[in-house]
Amino acid sequence: MIDIQDRICDAVKGLVMEAAEAAKFVKDGDNVGTSGFTPCGYPKAVPLALADRGLAGEQLKINVWTGASVGPEMDSAMTNAGIVNRRLPYQTNKDMRNAINAGKVKYADIHLSHMAQMVRYGFMANRKGVDVAIVEACKIIDLGEGKVGIVPTTSMGNSSSYVQGADKVIVEVNVTQPVALEGMHDSYVPLDPPCRQPIPITAPEDRIGTPYIPCEIAKIVAVVPSDITDKVRPLGEIDDEAKAMGSNLVNFLKNEVKEGRLPKNLLPLQSGVGSVANAVINGLVNSDFEDLTVYTEVIQDGMFDLIDVGKLRVASGTSLSPSPECLKKFYENVEKYKKYIILRPQEISNSPEVARRIGVIAMNTAIEVDIYGNVNSTHTTGTKLMNGVGGSGDFARNGFLTVFFTNSLAKKGAISSVVPFCSHIDHATLDVDVIVSERGVADLRGLSPKEKAPIIIDQIANPKYQPWLYDYFKRACEACGNSQTPHILSEAFDCYERLAKTGTMEIKD
Ligand code: COA
Repeated sequence: MIDIQDRICDAVKGLVMEAAEAAKFVKDGDNVGTSGFTPCGYPKAVPLALADRGLAGEQLKINVWTGASVGPEMDSAMTNAGIVNRRLPYQTNKDMRNAINAGKVKYADIHLSHMAQMVRYGFMANRKGVDVAIVEACKIIDLGEGKVGIVPTTSMGNSSSYVQGADKVIVEVNVTQPVALEGMHDSYVPLDPPCRQPIPITAPEDRIGTPYIPCEIAKIVAVVPSDITDKVRPLGEIDDEAKAMGSNLVNFLKNEVKEGRLPKNLLPLQSGVGSVANAVINGLVNSDFEDLTVYTEVIQDGMFDLIDVGKLRVASGTSLSPSPECLKKFYENVEKYKKYIILRPQEISNSPEVARRIGVIAMNTAIEVDIYGNVNSTHTTGTKLMNGVGGSGDFARNGFLTVFFTNSLAKKGAISSVVPFCSHIDHATLDVDVIVSERGVADLRGLSPKEKAPIIIDQIANPKYQPWLYDYFKRACEACGNSQTPHILSEAFDCYERLAKTGTMEIKD
């Protein structure tokens, strides 16, 4: 067995067991709340043991609640073993996505800041709380009075709340995670209405909780040694289009500073995940901005680069989301980076209350936008789930300034990312201030729908699809007698049918 004796306090030493033994505490029909957010800090050994039970033919269907996306040891192994009934609140895994889109796993999109409180309120589909919490830790410390402190690893997610509410707790102590991570976390669970108090954060660097998750020893049923690594993913190359989006955004922000609408060091930055988000942060690395702050969900490569060049004061998030190279750099320099990083529960990192108070600049990526500025972040061609809404809604509604990025084209030009009417809407136009593509910036603040449309078509859409979009807008205005939001409803979604029939949204004679 992997040796974890120097990582755990005496009080839990009698609870150490292999993953297969611990997995027996999970019963058919259970709600299982786990740590993990992006492929960081999720449990690995026990989920693999649960998958083995499914593969062995045992009747086992569980509801899997995480922080957000997790690694293949959960979303591939457990899905392929057929043991997942419901999966909340976000995923990015191909096997899980296919199972959801084939109707094999039930998925409901939930704003990431809402998840923990919805569980506490008893709002989940079976109206029950967490039966078993499975969380990854780098250390377990003795707090006395029958309590221990679980020191999380590379993410916080919903672990604090799941542990607090669970009947049983399984802790995976992962020896690949440095013990030096201790001190980076800030665990805090708000009270619920009618007792809720203000979350006392007024600046991204404020700490309000404990560097460990407190837990009664009596609830811990197993402590499982693990040496399975976080399966972090490589970042795509920053291509020319992503670079152009990054520089469009930087120029826009510079102008906002010049016009006096933003301070010289901007406001706390929130940035989504993926290659575009990374390119945008990279644009900031190469800009003149200094003394920046980050109040976001995931702390990714570009933010480590900002720390390296001395431009970042603090990065507050709920998870690291580094590439393999960046994770290595982090592990080798934990003490240095720890001074700049705070990992909070996602109901705090994504708190609408805090985002509104500190004035976050919210920057997320859209799948498509429509000519009136509505944003689809989650579905392709209106019906198939991609990932989920994630934290985009937490920040979009509550940001000081809300920006969405999109390439003007998708699928090598077969798809226009600007359409007459989004096939699915996650963020209504009233939550969208600015849209940025590789072509330009559409500043929509304060404009009416009919003012927004020509700007979006001109600045964001690709020239290949502009004539079609202008023509639709013009005819829609005529057909609706110039009404508030003109549409030809019988035609608004034709592009999806055209795509399905011909493989492209292009109109061919
Ligand atoms: N129609 C159909 N497919 C589209 C599309 C469109 N208009 N636009 C993009 N896609 C496809 C891409 O082709 C790609 O498909 P592939 O995986 O088969 O190659 C996929 O969507 C991802 O697009 P990509 O261009 O690689 O961008 P990304 O990795 O930056 O992801 C989102 C974009 C929107 C899917 C992603 O940002 C997301 O899930 N957002 C919602 C959650 C969120 O905002 N989280 C951050 C909050 S902190």
